[in-house]
Amino acid sequence: MSSKTFSLRQPRATDGYALNQLVERCPPLDTNSVYCNLLQCTDFAATSIAAENSEGELVGFISGYRPPARPDTLFVWQVAVDSRMRGQGLGLSMLLGLVQRTAVDGVRWLETTISPGNGASEALFAKAFRRLGVEARTQVLFNRATHFQGQHDDEVLYRAGPFAPSAQLAHFAHSENQETA
Ligand SMILES: CC(C)(COP(=O)(O)OP(=O)(O)OC[C@H]1O[C@@H](n2cnc3c(N)ncnc32)[C@H](O)[C@@H]1OP(=O)(O)O)[C@@H](O)C(=O)NCCC(=O)NCCS
Repeated sequence: MSSKTFSLRQPRATDGYALNQLVERCPPLDTNSVYCNLLQCTDFAATSIAAENSEGELVGFISGYRPPARPDTLFVWQVAVDSRMRGQGLGLSMLLGLVQRTAVDGVRWLETTISPGNGASEALFAKAFRRLGVEARTQVLFNRATHFQGQHDDEVLYRAGPFAPSAQLAHFAHSENQETA
């Protein structure tokens, strides 16, 4: 597969609508309202990351936040990579880039939830944990029967850390505002 150029940056408000469309193109992700996506691109921009291609189209996004009770933790809500851009390290580059950026503000732990059977997501996070030199502990956070009325698979929480302070992470990540080809 030929490698395609992308660049990473912090999201901005004008990404909100395109993010809504990107998530819609990325099943099994749950879609959210455009308003929710706008908030992810504004109030939560410091804990989220956007990727655009050489035409300036939004082709990747990670939404995240720092849980108020665990400010040393980056909780990754959704990871979306446009199908044309998959399999060339964009998801991993965004994840490590976001960890690198938030580590400057004291983040040392990474959390996410994954539904059993989402092999791509499991592989992406397993690789990120290996690169960060940490192991994950898992537990069912939201249960199909108890929390989703049987309408959604379990969501299993992965919590991994603590990882190194930001300086030691620098060589792991694809830096923001730099292009790769
Ligand atoms: C999951 C997703 C974000 C991965 O993005 P990506 O840019 O293709 O991932 P990368 O190229 O960075 O791959 C990272 C690792 O995961 C592995 N991986 C990626 N997709 C995979 C798949 N479908 N099956 C198995 N492994 C996969 C890669 O092989 C790589 O590991 P390796 O280098 O050891 O081989 C992308 O497939 C996607 O957007 N899927 C739909 C939405 C979704 O499920 N999001 C995750 C839930 S939040």
